[in-house]
Amino acid sequence: MTNNKKLLAWVAEIEAMCTPDQVVWCDGSKEEYDRLMAEMVESGMAIKLNEEKRPNSFAFNSDPSDVARVEKRTYIASLKEEDAGPTNNWIDPVELKKTMTELYTGCMKGRTMYVMPFSMGPIGSDIAKIGVEITDSPYVVVNMHIMTRMSPKVLEVLGDDGEFIPCLHSIGSPLEPGQKDSRWPCAPIEKKYIAHFPEENLIWSYGSGYGGNALLGKKCLALRIASAMAKREGWMAEHMLILRFTSPEGKQFHISAAFPSACGKTNLAMLQSTVPGWKVETIGDDIAWMKQGEDGRLYAINPEAGFFGVAPGTAEESNPMALASVKENAIFTNVVVTDDGDVWWEDMGVECTGGTDWKNNPWKPGMKDADGNEIKGAHPNSRFTARASQCPVICPDWENPNGVPIDIFVFGGKRTSTLPLVHEAFDFDHGVYMGATASSEPTAAALDLGNVSLRFDPFAMTPFIGYHAGDYMQHWFDMGDKLGDNAPRCFYVNWFRKTDDGKWLWPGFGENSRVLKWMCDRVEGKVGARETPIGLMPIDGDLTLEGLDISDEDWAELMKVDGELFKGTLADAEKYLSKFGNKLPARITKQLQALKERLG
Ligand code: OXD
Ligand code: MN
Repeated sequence: MTNNKKLLAWVAEIEAMCTPDQVVWCDGSKEEYDRLMAEMVESGMAIKLNEEKRPNSFAFNSDPSDVARVEKRTYIASLKEEDAGPTNNWIDPVELKKTMTELYTGCMKGRTMYVMPFSMGPIGSDIAKIGVEITDSPYVVVNMHIMTRMSPKVLEVLGDDGEFIPCLHSIGSPLEPGQKDSRWPCAPIEKKYIAHFPEENLIWSYGSGYGGNALLGKKCLALRIASAMAKREGWMAEHMLILRFTSPEGKQFHISAAFPSACGKTNLAMLQSTVPGWKVETIGDDIAWMKQGEDGRLYAINPEAGFFGVAPGTAEESNPMALASVKENAIFTNVVVTDDGDVWWEDMGVECTGGTDWKNNPWKPGMKDADGNEIKGAHPNSRFTARASQCPVICPDWENPNGVPIDIFVFGGKRTSTLPLVHEAFDFDHGVYMGATASSEPTAAALDLGNVSLRFDPFAMTPFIGYHAGDYMQHWFDMGDKLGDNAPRCFYVNWFRKTDDGKWLWPGFGENSRVLKWMCDRVEGKVGARETPIGLMPIDGDLTLEGLDISDEDWAELMKVDGELFKGTLADAEKYLSKFGNKLPARITKQLQALKERLG
């Protein structure tokens, strides 16, 4: 096992606090995965899917109260409140530890405590980090098998005195002797805590078994804790996909893109290019860790080993590569299990005659509730979990421990008006401003955002910055200064613009490759650009529309920048940014003023 003193002491301390029936050290093996799945099928938590249709795959339905990240119960417990900033919930770490210690005391009674050493990033890579998650949820273990690198090699790399990030998780549902377990045990919302102690590199999560609340390598470690480490250590941990786009001549471009949850990040990461001869290969679909290399360029790795993608909307048309990735050996959470033992979700692009919905009720398409509203079969935030290696277009370099050199940063969000299809930043500082003021109409990936029509979401990182968002923006400028001429070029895209009568103006999906190609042409200096008040935009004809059924009017609308509408967004942005107070970088204010002047 291990002689790492810090690890052994931590496991003993948690065991004494949580009092599980037994402790199991996980090795990430197939045997372990199969055994846990068999146990969960036996207990009724997992449903084994039809072996012919979906080999070695399983479905789970969560408790209806436990279906997404809970941002209001997510905390950054830094020593000083001002270090958490206005985008985070802060609690005093001493007080929080007291509250959570009470909750953790005896919380694993009647359950097994699993200890999972894992690596985020290729094991042993300079950019990778080791975490150890303790959990009492076997569902979490099987998902972590797919999402991280879990193997005895991690303990070898850790050695006797290596550093790791302790990640403690409990579903918060102890079992008394003889008590029957529920299908998806979890704690009520007021007892859920997703807590981060950035100064200690420590994660404590309690009460939820779902996704980012429970698979602690993902949002908690690879974004919140890693972003704070990255700031201290001079690198970047971002909510970004990574892809390689290769020209017919074999020239490779590496693109990193930040979009808020459920804005098509996974689709873009696996895009099937419609530009003849150009191809996309996937490196990551959610998170990028980036460090300056010896040659001065910025190198990115995907710290994850799998995809935890939103299922609804994933179809042959939108993302055939994601569908291919989940053909076998996959986990599905909160989807429909069809009568023939396969899975289905809304906008999958295939017929479904019926089955069992995510709430475990018999279900048929078109069913209505008592108020006449259609009952969805899958939860809007239902998910698939699949190994990245199963993606047919995974890049041969996706596990390169040195990462890939990033040429282009893309920011964006879902805006049905105002923002054009694409514009480019004048320079890196302007790019940082674009990222810092990115905005989107809300999604289903977080439970509790309320009824807001527009959410500013700097760098798509709002729920994931482990420290003050103003300092985070400054860190972007600092990285730009460090990278100098090697800094990636910055672009902003909006695939989601609609006509006044609600029709999408841009076909999206594979056609987005046309926009990526224009970006690459810009990087290579092959095409010029039109200067507009908001940035650089394609000269007509440079972004090829050949073969697309887009009228001249629709194209003009897609690329239109309505100064008055944009000024409205600018005023909203200014109001939003004012909450960062004296932590708002002066360089953001400078960009805002310059943009105002350009808009007149
Ligand atoms: C995700 C998210 O799950 O961003 O990736 O919410
Ligand atoms: Mn995400």
